[in-house]
Amino acid sequence: MTKMGITMVDDNGATNLAEADHHLPPLVRALKASAERKTVPFHFPGHKRGQAAPTPLAELIGINPFLHDVTELPDLDRFFSPKGPLLEAKKLAAQLFGAKETWFLVGGTSCGVQAAIMATCSPGDTIILPRNAHVSATTGVIFSGAVPKYIVPQYNSEWDIAAGVTPSQVKAAIRESRASGRKVAAVFVTSPTYNGICSNLSEISKVCHSQGIPLIVDEAHGAHFKFHPQMPKPALDQGADVSIQSTHKVLCSFSQTSMLHISGEMIDRERLHKCLHALQSTSPSWLFLASLDAARHQLSTDAAAFDHAVNLANVAKILIRKIPGISVLDLSAFPDFSNMDPLRVTIGVWQLGLSGFQANEILDNDLGIIPELVSTKSVTLAFSQGTTGEHVQRLVSGLKHLSWTFSVVNCETTVAGKAGPYDDPVMSLNPREAFFASKMKMSFKDCSGEVCGEFICHTRQEFQFLYLVK
Ligand SMILES: Cc1ncc(COP(=O)(O)O)c(C=O)c1O
Repeated sequence: MTKMGITMVDDNGATNLAEADHHLPPLVRALKASAERKTVPFHFPGHKRGQAAPTPLAELIGINPFLHDVTELPDLDRFFSPKGPLLEAKKLAAQLFGAKETWFLVGGTSCGVQAAIMATCSPGDTIILPRNAHVSATTGVIFSGAVPKYIVPQYNSEWDIAAGVTPSQVKAAIRESRASGRKVAAVFVTSPTYNGICSNLSEISKVCHSQGIPLIVDEAHGAHFKFHPQMPKPALDQGADVSIQSTHKVLCSFSQTSMLHISGEMIDRERLHKCLHALQSTSPSWLFLASLDAARHQLSTDAAAFDHAVNLANVAKILIRKIPGISVLDLSAFPDFSNMDPLRVTIGVWQLGLSGFQANEILDNDLGIIPELVSTKSVTLAFSQGTTGEHVQRLVSGLKHLSWTFSVVNCETTVAGKAGPYDDPVMSLNPREAFFASKMKMSFKDCSGEVCGEFICHTRQEFQFLYLVK
């Protein structure tokens, strides 16, 4: 057992401190004031502000995280009906991100994507979405009972990477759905993609709105777009009705925390709120929520927050491009797209005769350099405010080591096109029917022609068996 090793101030001291703390973000201030009240904690969690913190974890992270690990207390706020510091924090976030309203999420962008789909699509409605959408979009389709109309994303076989969708693809998908008598309730676009490729949301939102359809943007990888002139424009600034951002990915809140923003008049706010309520814990971590508020505060107090990260990424790309056998992904791989996140750096290693998985193993195991994403022909690095010059030096040396160690081999080059893993398969059951159908386990090699009953995606995962619909 560990003891709570904090110094409490007396009542007068606490009052003075509260005034002195006025500069703090509202939720951080509220957490601090709550801890300073010396209350008797007959509430959850059982460690009671660290009194019974499990020793190995307390030795690792200290007692302070436990001190502030509380859930809904009267002196904090209500997660689903905020009236105090959480409401203030949400309003400040909405102001910063240019939203009509913002929700703080403790189930990541995943729960925001699911809620946005459930808030716009009723059972039987059609949702238009790219074939490479995140699994949370598919689970959102399953929960809502919507029927997907897939768009096959642009694909580059040299890189084995898919990009976004174009306005004309969205237009065609709406036209085809309507021609077959379907009611299109929402268009869902992932922008940027994991590799940082952005779709033309300004045009896509115009297409959607001209047809009275709301646009949901999975902006999990683009929460930082508002904060540097070299960044692409954020989804809300381009007319999206909903944007869901993983604040924990490039910005600096704790893992698992995201924000959902709405704009315009097309989204039923009450229905969305109920869906978010249905999908999230009734015991959110207030430390997590405070981290969202703190991440917002960090940006609102530093106009140059991303200058260093953007400079480092630009320098890194210049240095890496000079290394023989290594390529850096840019928009020439996707001529239909004109914007890319400057902080997402994807490195192609196929000319060295290596797969992305092999390169990752050497970088990680031998050199301690850990990419964010690993693919068949590349690894992807995420730059952010926490990236340092030393990180870039180690990265460039590591890639030089790869280049020296593996000889440059000749590789057949191919061009952007629509072939590859995202060919549009025939949909014999919609995802909800397939999810709830009885299943049988079958060896992967015998699966051809059967109906898949589980999620499979284009990753390093090697399937020996699949669950198929009986
Ligand atoms: C495109 C995309 N959307 C949504 C998500 C889910 O985000 P979160 O991890 O915040 O739930 C991810 C996660 O990697 C993602 O890549």
